[in-house]
Amino acid sequence: MKPREIKKGIYCVGAIDWDRRLFDSLIPLPDGTSYNAYLIKGSKKTALIDTVDPPMKDVLLDNLDQLGIKRIDYVIFNHAEPDHSGSIREVLTKYPEAKAVCTPRCKDMLIDRFLVAEDRFQTVEDKETISLGNRTLEFIHAPWVHWPETMLTYLREDKILFPCDFFGSHIATTDMYVRDIGQEYEAAKRYWAEIMMPFRLQIQKNLDKIKDYKIDIIAPSHGPMHDKPQFIIDAYHMWAFDEPGNIVVIPYISMHGSTRCMVAHLVETLSRKGVTVKQFDLAVSDIGKLAISLVDAATIVIGTPTVLTGPHPNVAYAAFLANAIKPKAKFASIIGSYGWGTKAVEQLAAMIPNLKVEILTPVIIKGYPEEADFQALDKLADTIAAKHKEAGLK
Ligand code: FEO
Repeated sequence: MKPREIKKGIYCVGAIDWDRRLFDSLIPLPDGTSYNAYLIKGSKKTALIDTVDPPMKDVLLDNLDQLGIKRIDYVIFNHAEPDHSGSIREVLTKYPEAKAVCTPRCKDMLIDRFLVAEDRFQTVEDKETISLGNRTLEFIHAPWVHWPETMLTYLREDKILFPCDFFGSHIATTDMYVRDIGQEYEAAKRYWAEIMMPFRLQIQKNLDKIKDYKIDIIAPSHGPMHDKPQFIIDAYHMWAFDEPGNIVVIPYISMHGSTRCMVAHLVETLSRKGVTVKQFDLAVSDIGKLAISLVDAATIVIGTPTVLTGPHPNVAYAAFLANAIKPKAKFASIIGSYGWGTKAVEQLAAMIPNLKVEILTPVIIKGYPEEADFQALDKLADTIAAKHKEAGLK
Protein backbone atom coordinates (compact mmCIF):
# COMPACT_ATOMS: atom_id res chain seq x y z
CA MET A 1 0.00 0.00 0.00
CA LYS A 2 1.01 3.58 -0.54
CA PRO A 3 1.93 5.72 2.50
CA ARG A 4 -0.96 6.53 4.81
CA GLU A 5 -1.03 9.43 7.25
CA ILE A 6 -1.80 8.60 10.88
CA LYS A 7 -1.61 12.25 11.84
CA LYS A 8 0.34 15.19 10.53
CA GLY A 9 3.93 14.12 9.99
CA ILE A 10 3.40 10.46 11.01
CA TYR A 11 2.89 7.85 8.30
CA CYS A 12 2.49 4.11 7.80
CA VAL A 13 5.10 3.18 5.20
CA GLY A 14 5.31 -0.62 5.56
CA ALA A 15 4.07 -3.51 3.42
CA ILE A 16 1.04 -5.80 3.45
CA ASP A 17 1.76 -9.45 2.64
CA TRP A 18 -1.64 -10.80 1.57
CA ASP A 19 -0.40 -14.14 0.29
CA ARG A 20 2.02 -15.36 2.93
CA ARG A 21 0.74 -18.57 4.49
CA LEU A 22 3.65 -19.71 6.67
CA PHE A 23 6.02 -17.90 9.01
CA ASP A 24 9.39 -19.34 10.03
CA SER A 25 8.45 -22.31 7.79
CA LEU A 26 6.34 -23.32 10.80
CA ILE A 27 3.51 -20.99 11.79
CA PRO A 28 0.34 -20.98 9.65
CA LEU A 29 -0.81 -17.50 8.57
CA PRO A 30 -4.43 -18.00 7.44
CA ASP A 31 -4.98 -14.25 7.08
CA GLY A 32 -1.57 -13.22 5.67
CA THR A 33 0.35 -10.56 7.59
CA SER A 34 1.94 -7.14 7.33
CA TYR A 35 5.34 -5.69 8.16
CA ASN A 36 4.52 -2.23 9.43
CA ALA A 37 7.06 0.58 9.41
CA TYR A 38 6.36 4.13 10.51
CA LEU A 39 7.88 7.43 9.47
CA ILE A 40 7.90 10.27 12.01
CA LYS A 41 8.81 13.79 11.00
CA GLY A 42 9.85 16.15 13.76
CA SER A 43 10.58 19.87 13.36
CA LYS A 44 14.31 19.07 13.25
CA LYS A 45 14.83 15.36 12.63
CA THR A 46 13.13 12.46 10.93
CA ALA A 47 12.92 8.89 12.21
CA LEU A 48 11.85 5.61 10.66
CA ILE A 49 10.56 2.96 13.06
CA ASP A 50 11.29 -0.62 11.93
CA THR A 51 11.80 -1.75 8.34
CA VAL A 52 10.16 -4.66 6.49
CA ASP A 53 10.80 -8.26 5.51
CA PRO A 54 13.49 -8.26 2.78
CA PRO A 55 11.27 -9.55 -0.07
CA MET A 56 9.10 -6.43 0.41
CA LYS A 57 11.86 -3.85 0.82
CA ASP A 58 10.93 -2.06 -2.42
CA VAL A 59 7.49 -1.24 -1.00
CA LEU A 60 9.13 0.53 1.93
CA LEU A 61 11.71 2.35 -0.18
CA ASP A 62 9.07 3.44 -2.74
CA ASN A 63 6.83 4.73 0.04
CA LEU A 64 9.66 6.84 1.43
CA ASP A 65 10.27 8.21 -2.08
CA GLN A 66 6.59 9.01 -2.51
CA LEU A 67 6.71 11.05 0.67
CA GLY A 68 9.72 12.89 -0.76
CA ILE A 69 12.00 11.78 2.07
CA LYS A 70 15.57 12.80 1.25
CA ARG A 71 17.09 12.36 4.68
CA ILE A 72 16.38 10.08 7.63
CA ASP A 73 18.28 10.80 10.83
CA TYR A 74 17.35 7.75 12.86
CA VAL A 75 16.18 4.26 11.94
CA ILE A 76 14.78 2.67 15.07
CA PHE A 77 15.24 -1.09 15.31
CA ASN A 78 12.95 -2.29 18.07
CA HIS A 79 13.77 -5.91 17.29
CA ALA A 80 16.47 -7.73 15.31
CA GLU A 81 14.28 -10.40 13.67
CA PRO A 82 14.56 -10.11 9.87
CA ASP A 83 10.85 -9.48 9.21
CA HIS A 84 11.43 -6.04 10.79
CA SER A 85 15.17 -5.49 10.46
CA GLY A 86 15.96 -7.40 7.28
CA SER A 87 16.02 -4.30 5.07
CA ILE A 88 18.62 -2.59 7.27
CA ARG A 89 21.40 -2.55 4.68
CA GLU A 90 19.22 -1.11 1.91
CA VAL A 91 17.75 1.59 4.17
CA LEU A 92 21.11 2.63 5.64
CA THR A 93 22.63 2.72 2.14
CA LYS A 94 19.82 4.88 0.76
CA TYR A 95 19.99 7.23 3.77
CA PRO A 96 23.73 7.54 4.56
CA GLU A 97 23.21 10.07 7.38
CA ALA A 98 20.92 7.72 9.30
CA LYS A 99 21.97 6.17 12.60
CA ALA A 100 20.59 2.74 13.48
CA VAL A 101 19.10 3.13 16.96
CA CYS A 102 18.60 0.05 19.12
CA THR A 103 19.50 -1.64 22.39
CA PRO A 104 23.15 -2.69 22.86
CA ARG A 105 22.17 -6.34 22.51
CA CYS A 106 20.20 -5.66 19.35
CA LYS A 107 23.23 -3.90 17.86
CA ASP A 108 25.33 -7.04 18.30
CA MET A 109 22.63 -9.20 16.76
CA LEU A 110 22.18 -6.88 13.77
CA ILE A 111 25.94 -6.83 13.16
CA ASP A 112 26.06 -10.64 13.42
CA ARG A 113 23.11 -11.21 11.12
CA PHE A 114 23.39 -8.39 8.58
CA LEU A 115 27.11 -7.47 8.72
CA VAL A 116 26.37 -3.77 9.27
CA ALA A 117 29.33 -1.49 10.08
CA GLU A 118 29.58 -0.72 13.80
CA ASP A 119 29.84 3.05 13.26
CA ARG A 120 26.28 3.17 11.88
CA PHE A 121 24.83 2.40 15.31
CA GLN A 122 23.66 4.52 18.23
CA THR A 123 22.60 2.39 21.16
CA VAL A 124 20.04 3.54 23.70
CA GLU A 125 19.50 2.58 27.31
CA ASP A 126 16.17 1.93 28.98
CA LYS A 127 14.05 5.13 29.19
CA GLU A 128 16.59 7.10 27.11
CA THR A 129 15.09 9.67 24.73
CA ILE A 130 15.93 11.17 21.35
CA SER A 131 14.51 14.53 20.31
CA LEU A 132 13.20 15.09 16.81
CA GLY A 133 12.62 18.78 17.66
CA ASN A 134 8.95 19.09 18.52
CA ARG A 135 8.62 15.34 19.02
CA THR A 136 10.37 12.99 21.47
CA LEU A 137 11.04 9.29 21.17
CA GLU A 138 11.38 7.35 24.43
CA PHE A 139 12.81 3.85 24.36
CA ILE A 140 11.54 1.21 26.75
CA HIS A 141 13.67 -1.90 27.01
CA ALA A 142 11.40 -4.95 26.91
CA PRO A 143 13.57 -8.07 26.94
CA TRP A 144 11.97 -11.35 25.79
CA VAL A 145 9.13 -9.79 23.84
CA HIS A 146 9.95 -12.25 22.30
CA TRP A 147 13.72 -12.07 21.79
CA PRO A 148 16.24 -10.86 24.39
CA GLU A 149 17.15 -7.62 22.59
CA THR A 150 13.73 -6.07 22.16
CA MET A 151 12.54 -2.57 23.02
CA LEU A 152 9.40 -0.51 22.53
CA THR A 153 9.35 3.06 21.26
CA TYR A 154 6.97 5.65 22.74
CA LEU A 155 6.24 8.90 20.93
CA ARG A 156 5.55 11.15 23.88
CA GLU A 157 3.75 14.15 22.43
CA ASP A 158 1.40 12.02 20.31
CA LYS A 159 1.00 9.21 22.89
CA ILE A 160 1.70 6.50 20.32
CA LEU A 161 3.39 3.26 21.37
CA PHE A 162 5.36 1.43 18.67
CA PRO A 163 5.87 -2.00 20.26
CA CYS A 164 6.97 -4.03 17.20
CA ASP A 165 5.75 -7.63 17.74
CA PHE A 166 4.12 -6.88 21.13
CA PHE A 167 0.31 -6.53 20.70
CA GLY A 168 0.66 -7.55 17.04
CA SER A 169 -1.41 -9.88 14.88
CA HIS A 170 -0.79 -11.63 11.60
CA ILE A 171 -3.52 -10.02 9.52
CA ALA A 172 -3.37 -8.53 6.04
CA THR A 173 -6.04 -5.82 5.86
CA THR A 174 -6.64 -2.43 4.27
CA ASP A 175 -7.97 -1.18 7.62
CA MET A 176 -5.41 1.05 9.31
CA TYR A 177 -7.04 0.43 12.68
CA VAL A 178 -8.69 -2.65 14.15
CA ARG A 179 -12.29 -2.65 12.89
CA ASP A 180 -13.14 -6.35 12.80
CA ILE A 181 -12.85 -7.07 16.51
CA GLY A 182 -13.64 -10.80 16.15
CA GLN A 183 -10.95 -11.38 13.55
CA GLU A 184 -8.44 -9.32 15.53
CA TYR A 185 -9.12 -11.15 18.78
CA GLU A 186 -8.52 -14.57 17.21
CA ALA A 187 -5.46 -13.42 15.25
CA ALA A 188 -3.94 -11.66 18.26
CA LYS A 189 -4.60 -14.71 20.43
CA ARG A 190 -2.97 -16.95 17.82
CA TYR A 191 -0.01 -14.54 17.80
CA TRP A 192 0.14 -14.57 21.58
CA ALA A 193 0.01 -18.37 21.70
CA GLU A 194 2.72 -18.96 19.14
CA ILE A 195 5.08 -16.06 19.81
CA MET A 196 4.54 -14.53 23.24
CA MET A 197 3.17 -17.28 25.51
CA PRO A 198 6.53 -19.04 26.00
CA PHE A 199 7.72 -15.81 27.68
CA ARG A 200 4.58 -15.21 29.73
CA LEU A 201 6.41 -14.41 32.97
CA GLN A 202 8.73 -11.89 31.34
CA ILE A 203 5.76 -10.39 29.51
CA GLN A 204 3.95 -9.90 32.80
CA LYS A 205 6.87 -7.67 33.82
CA ASN A 206 6.78 -5.76 30.54
CA LEU A 207 3.02 -5.20 30.81
CA ASP A 208 3.66 -3.76 34.24
CA LYS A 209 6.38 -1.54 32.80
CA ILE A 210 4.01 0.25 30.40
CA LYS A 211 1.04 0.57 32.75
CA ASP A 212 1.69 4.24 33.59
CA TYR A 213 2.12 5.41 30.01
CA LYS A 214 -0.80 7.28 28.50
CA ILE A 215 -1.37 5.51 25.20
CA ASP A 216 -3.81 6.74 22.55
CA ILE A 217 -2.62 4.48 19.74
CA ILE A 218 -0.72 1.20 19.69
CA ALA A 219 1.04 0.86 16.35
CA PRO A 220 2.46 -2.68 16.18
CA SER A 221 4.62 -3.99 13.36
CA HIS A 222 2.16 -6.73 12.34
CA GLY A 223 -1.53 -6.20 11.66
CA PRO A 224 -3.78 -3.16 12.11
CA MET A 225 -3.17 -0.43 14.70
CA HIS A 226 -5.23 -0.07 17.86
CA ASP A 227 -6.98 3.29 18.33
CA LYS A 228 -8.85 1.73 21.25
CA PRO A 229 -5.75 0.19 22.85
CA GLN A 230 -7.42 -1.00 26.04
CA PHE A 231 -8.95 -3.88 24.05
CA ILE A 232 -5.60 -5.50 23.33
CA ILE A 233 -4.01 -4.49 26.65
CA ASP A 234 -6.90 -6.17 28.52
CA ALA A 235 -6.59 -9.27 26.33
CA TYR A 236 -2.85 -9.51 27.04
CA HIS A 237 -3.47 -9.13 30.76
CA MET A 238 -6.02 -11.94 30.65
CA TRP A 239 -3.75 -14.26 28.68
CA ALA A 240 -0.69 -13.43 30.77
CA PHE A 241 -2.13 -13.33 34.27
CA ASP A 242 -5.50 -15.10 34.51
CA GLU A 243 -6.05 -18.67 35.65
CA PRO A 244 -6.93 -21.13 32.85
CA GLY A 245 -10.59 -21.87 32.16
CA ASN A 246 -12.71 -24.96 32.84
CA ILE A 247 -11.44 -26.27 29.49
CA VAL A 248 -9.93 -29.53 28.25
CA VAL A 249 -8.02 -29.69 24.98
CA ILE A 250 -7.63 -33.06 23.27
CA PRO A 251 -5.13 -33.22 20.41
CA TYR A 252 -5.20 -36.73 18.96
CA ILE A 253 -4.55 -39.04 16.06
CA SER A 254 -6.46 -42.20 15.28
CA MET A 255 -5.28 -44.74 12.71
CA HIS A 256 -7.94 -47.45 12.83
CA GLY A 257 -10.65 -45.89 15.01
CA SER A 258 -9.86 -47.06 18.58
CA THR A 259 -8.38 -43.79 19.78
CA ARG A 260 -11.10 -41.81 17.97
CA CYS A 261 -13.76 -43.85 19.79
CA MET A 262 -12.06 -43.16 23.14
CA VAL A 263 -11.80 -39.44 22.37
CA ALA A 264 -15.48 -39.27 21.40
CA HIS A 265 -16.48 -40.97 24.66
CA LEU A 266 -14.31 -38.71 26.79
CA VAL A 267 -15.54 -35.56 25.02
CA GLU A 268 -19.15 -36.57 25.57
CA THR A 269 -18.63 -37.42 29.24
CA LEU A 270 -16.67 -34.27 30.04
CA SER A 271 -19.14 -32.00 28.30
CA ARG A 272 -22.02 -33.60 30.27
CA LYS A 273 -20.11 -32.61 33.40
CA GLY A 274 -20.05 -28.96 32.29
CA VAL A 275 -16.45 -28.95 31.05
CA THR A 276 -15.73 -27.24 27.73
CA VAL A 277 -13.81 -29.58 25.43
CA LYS A 278 -11.89 -28.78 22.26
CA GLN A 279 -10.72 -31.74 20.18
CA PHE A 280 -8.18 -31.56 17.35
CA ASP A 281 -7.58 -34.38 14.90
CA LEU A 282 -3.92 -33.67 14.22
CA ALA A 283 -4.15 -35.26 10.77
CA VAL A 284 -6.25 -32.33 9.55
CA SER A 285 -6.04 -29.53 12.13
CA ASP A 286 -4.50 -26.07 11.80
CA ILE A 287 -1.76 -26.26 14.43
CA GLY A 288 -2.36 -22.56 15.15
CA LYS A 289 -5.94 -23.32 16.23
CA LEU A 290 -4.54 -25.89 18.65
CA ALA A 291 -2.09 -23.28 19.97
CA ILE A 292 -4.95 -20.79 20.50
CA SER A 293 -6.92 -23.35 22.50
CA LEU A 294 -3.91 -24.05 24.72
CA VAL A 295 -3.90 -20.41 25.95
CA ASP A 296 -6.90 -21.06 28.22
CA ALA A 297 -6.90 -24.82 28.74
CA ALA A 298 -6.63 -26.21 32.26
CA THR A 299 -6.13 -29.79 31.09
CA ILE A 300 -4.49 -31.34 28.03
CA VAL A 301 -5.39 -34.92 27.16
CA ILE A 302 -3.23 -36.34 24.39
CA GLY A 303 -4.76 -39.14 22.32
CA THR A 304 -2.49 -41.48 20.40
CA PRO A 305 -2.33 -44.88 18.81
CA THR A 306 0.95 -46.78 19.00
CA VAL A 307 3.34 -46.62 16.05
CA LEU A 308 6.53 -48.67 16.27
CA THR A 309 6.12 -48.88 20.07
CA GLY A 310 5.83 -45.08 20.53
CA PRO A 311 3.26 -42.32 19.96
CA HIS A 312 2.18 -41.43 16.42
CA PRO A 313 4.73 -38.93 15.01
CA ASN A 314 2.04 -36.24 14.55
CA VAL A 315 1.20 -36.57 18.25
CA ALA A 316 4.88 -36.34 19.16
CA TYR A 317 5.07 -33.14 17.09
CA ALA A 318 2.08 -31.63 18.90
CA ALA A 319 3.54 -32.61 22.30
CA PHE A 320 6.87 -31.04 21.33
CA LEU A 321 5.06 -27.87 20.27
CA ALA A 322 2.95 -27.70 23.44
CA ASN A 323 6.09 -28.16 25.53
CA ALA A 324 7.79 -25.31 23.63
CA ILE A 325 4.99 -22.75 23.91
CA LYS A 326 4.49 -23.46 27.64
CA PRO A 327 0.75 -23.06 28.18
CA LYS A 328 -0.51 -22.55 31.73
CA ALA A 329 -2.36 -25.90 31.90
CA LYS A 330 -2.47 -27.52 35.34
CA PHE A 331 -3.27 -31.14 34.43
CA ALA A 332 -2.45 -33.59 31.64
CA SER A 333 -3.21 -37.14 30.69
CA ILE A 334 -2.80 -39.57 27.81
CA ILE A 335 -5.33 -41.88 26.25
CA GLY A 336 -4.87 -44.29 23.37
CA SER A 337 -4.43 -47.77 22.09
CA TYR A 338 -1.94 -50.40 20.97
CA GLY A 339 -1.98 -53.71 19.17
CA TRP A 340 0.66 -55.80 20.94
CA GLY A 341 2.83 -53.47 23.09
CA THR A 342 3.48 -49.78 23.72
CA LYS A 343 5.83 -47.29 25.30
CA ALA A 344 3.76 -44.30 24.12
CA VAL A 345 3.01 -43.01 27.64
CA GLU A 346 6.63 -43.07 28.80
CA GLN A 347 7.84 -41.44 25.58
CA LEU A 348 5.18 -38.70 25.60
CA ALA A 349 5.65 -37.96 29.30
CA ALA A 350 9.36 -37.45 28.68
CA MET A 351 8.57 -34.91 25.94
CA ILE A 352 6.71 -32.36 28.07
CA PRO A 353 9.08 -31.35 30.92
CA ASN A 354 8.18 -27.64 30.51
CA LEU A 355 4.53 -28.24 31.33
CA LYS A 356 4.08 -27.78 35.05
CA VAL A 357 1.19 -30.23 35.16
CA GLU A 358 -0.09 -32.94 37.42
CA ILE A 359 -0.31 -36.11 35.33
CA LEU A 360 -3.68 -37.83 35.72
CA THR A 361 -3.79 -41.63 35.31
CA PRO A 362 -3.57 -42.45 31.58
CA VAL A 363 -6.01 -44.79 29.85
CA ILE A 364 -4.15 -46.99 27.39
CA ILE A 365 -6.01 -49.97 25.96
CA LYS A 366 -5.29 -53.01 23.80
CA GLY A 367 -7.33 -53.14 20.59
CA TYR A 368 -10.82 -51.60 20.50
CA PRO A 369 -12.38 -50.10 23.67
CA GLU A 370 -14.72 -52.29 25.72
CA GLU A 371 -16.93 -51.57 28.72
CA ALA A 372 -14.08 -51.57 31.24
CA ASP A 373 -12.18 -49.10 29.06
CA PHE A 374 -15.15 -46.73 28.87
CA GLN A 375 -15.40 -46.92 32.65
CA ALA A 376 -11.73 -45.95 32.92
CA LEU A 377 -12.42 -42.96 30.65
CA ASP A 378 -15.41 -42.02 32.82
CA LYS A 379 -13.14 -42.14 35.86
CA LEU A 380 -10.66 -39.86 34.09
CA ALA A 381 -13.49 -37.45 33.25
CA ASP A 382 -14.63 -37.52 36.91
CA THR A 383 -11.09 -36.74 38.06
CA ILE A 384 -10.67 -33.87 35.59
CA ALA A 385 -14.01 -32.29 36.49
CA ALA A 386 -13.23 -32.63 40.22
CA LYS A 387 -9.73 -31.16 39.82
CA HIS A 388 -11.12 -28.19 37.88
CA LYS A 389 -13.76 -27.61 40.54
CA GLU A 390 -11.22 -27.88 43.35
CA ALA A 391 -9.03 -25.31 41.58
CA GLY A 392 -12.02 -22.97 41.25
CA LEU A 393 -11.75 -22.83 37.44
CA LYS A 394 -14.59 -21.20 35.54
FE1 FEO B 1 7.72 -10.06 13.77
FE2 FEO B 1 9.78 -11.33 16.11
O1 FEO B 1 9.32 -10.66 14.45
